[in-house]
Amino acid sequence: MKQVKLAPSILAADFTQLGAQVEEVLQAGAEHIHIDVMDGHFVPNISFGPLMVTALRPLADQYGTLLDVHLMIEQPDRFLADFAHAGADIITVHVETCPHLHRTLQTIRELNVGPGVTLNPGTPLSTLEEILPDVDLVLIMSVNPGFGGQSYIPRSTDKISHLRAMLDAIGSTADLEVDGGIDAQNAAEIAAAGANVLVAGSAIFRGTQSISHNIAAFRRALSNT
Ligand code: DX5
Ligand code: ZN
Repeated sequence: MKQVKLAPSILAADFTQLGAQVEEVLQAGAEHIHIDVMDGHFVPNISFGPLMVTALRPLADQYGTLLDVHLMIEQPDRFLADFAHAGADIITVHVETCPHLHRTLQTIRELNVGPGVTLNPGTPLSTLEEILPDVDLVLIMSVNPGFGGQSYIPRSTDKISHLRAMLDAIGSTADLEVDGGIDAQNAAEIAAAGANVLVAGSAIFRGTQSISHNIAAFRRALSNT
């Protein structure tokens, strides 16, 4: 079983202390920094763009952490080069926004960035069949995209197991990442279903406990998976 990695989502961070908070998650050993890019069209919210990747690249280099960019934007092809040049390690696109998905993933790979694909809770896994061999990461949305702080959609667990079986069936080494409503209470169930990268925003950056305390709670919850 692959070691379960943590991908804190900076959407939930305190933007007035972003550098310090990202440094805290990096010092706590987070393997990814999850950067939620939203355009106000594909999702009803607007967040940040390539400048955020540029800003975090030096910190990521210091700790050997991956910048994991989740594009919740229409026509993502327009911005692949910008995010690649800004320093993204992984660029994940929504199947719902890519009519030429195979070519989009090829373009990401040609930019020397890891191609990722994701799908909304209402989108079936069958939409990924043809391109599974071409990705380094598949992201399962366990909330409807656009906002942090939502509740995990319980049926996502079956979807994770089905995807794990699909990846194993073709001998894929792609990461299986899950995103939305994840906390220390449901992390073990999600990992047991087959996820090996967990995105968490509110559970890490919000609440009364420190960031490092919250990350330690995840590690404890995952220690016997
Ligand atoms: C939602 C984003 C998620 C979100 C996770 O559209 O893709 O990454 O920020 O936040 P939490 O962990 O609070 O659900
Ligand atoms: Zn995300």
